[in-house]
Amino acid sequence: MAAEHPTAERQTFLAKHGVNADSVPQHVAIIMDGNGRWAKDRGEERVFGHMHGVDSVRAAVEASLKSGVRYLTLYAFSTENWNRPKQEVDALMDLLVRTLVHELEDLMSKGVRLRAIGDLSSLPEAAQAQLKEAEERTAHLTGLDLVLALSYSAKWELVEAVRQIVREGLAPEDIDTATLDRHLTTADLPDPELMIRTSGERRISNFMLWQLAYAEFHFTPVMWPDFREAHFLEAIRDYQRRERRFGGLLDTNHNEWNQEA
Ligand code: IPE
Ligand code: IPE
Ligand code: MG
Repeated sequence: MAAEHPTAERQTFLAKHGVNADSVPQHVAIIMDGNGRWAKDRGEERVFGHMHGVDSVRAAVEASLKSGVRYLTLYAFSTENWNRPKQEVDALMDLLVRTLVHELEDLMSKGVRLRAIGDLSSLPEAAQAQLKEAEERTAHLTGLDLVLALSYSAKWELVEAVRQIVREGLAPEDIDTATLDRHLTTADLPDPELMIRTSGERRISNFMLWQLAYAEFHFTPVMWPDFREAHFLEAIRDYQRRERRFGGLLDTNHNEWNQEA
């Protein structure tokens, strides 16, 4: 647990914002979208939006730490994003490296462990080296796992998992959902309970198709560069208003049904 946010302080914070401390999601995943439109609205280049998106990442990390979210996964660059103009791709990769260098000490002081998932070998060498260093230097930290999905797509990940299972020569009858779980890039992470997407789009764009099987989805029209703590807490409150049934019946419904029968 992060030393900066002891339980009493967290409870006060959550109570003040109408969040139930007993059902804060353990893992929140975010599709950070809308940087380009945000910049265009201001007559700026798309890259301007990406640069401002870093402030929102900081806000989401801080809000996670304060709320007691244990894992935060950010979809930062998809497999399909390689199809964007080279200039934008280069700028995004450059921004990634510069941000890692600039923020690492601060993240470490907050107890943040940095991890990356995706086809990392396709990233520029400077980005790979910075990620590796950040992962190694933060491996012992336990306040929050900040997972960056980079050159990631769910279909890529599932194909890789199947390839690995075949290479290992597993018998078909020995393969179950746990086998798949173990071969995904998220093998040691719990599934996200809450997925947030900014910018008003309502799709998952090849993100964690398997892991989001029973997640609650929160869509907000807020563009990613405007996303702040208040939006994060609204998403958690929205999550807490949902009834999660997992295909079964809620106890109360079940009892009513039994009484009628
Ligand atoms: C999200 O913002 C950032 C990345 C996908 C890297 P976009 O760049 O997709 O912004 P819009 O959706 O075009 O506004
Ligand atoms: C999804 O956003 C990918 C990331 C946020 C990294 P996109 O902007 O690439 O997705 P589409 O094209 O709207 O589906
Ligand atoms: Mg987009």
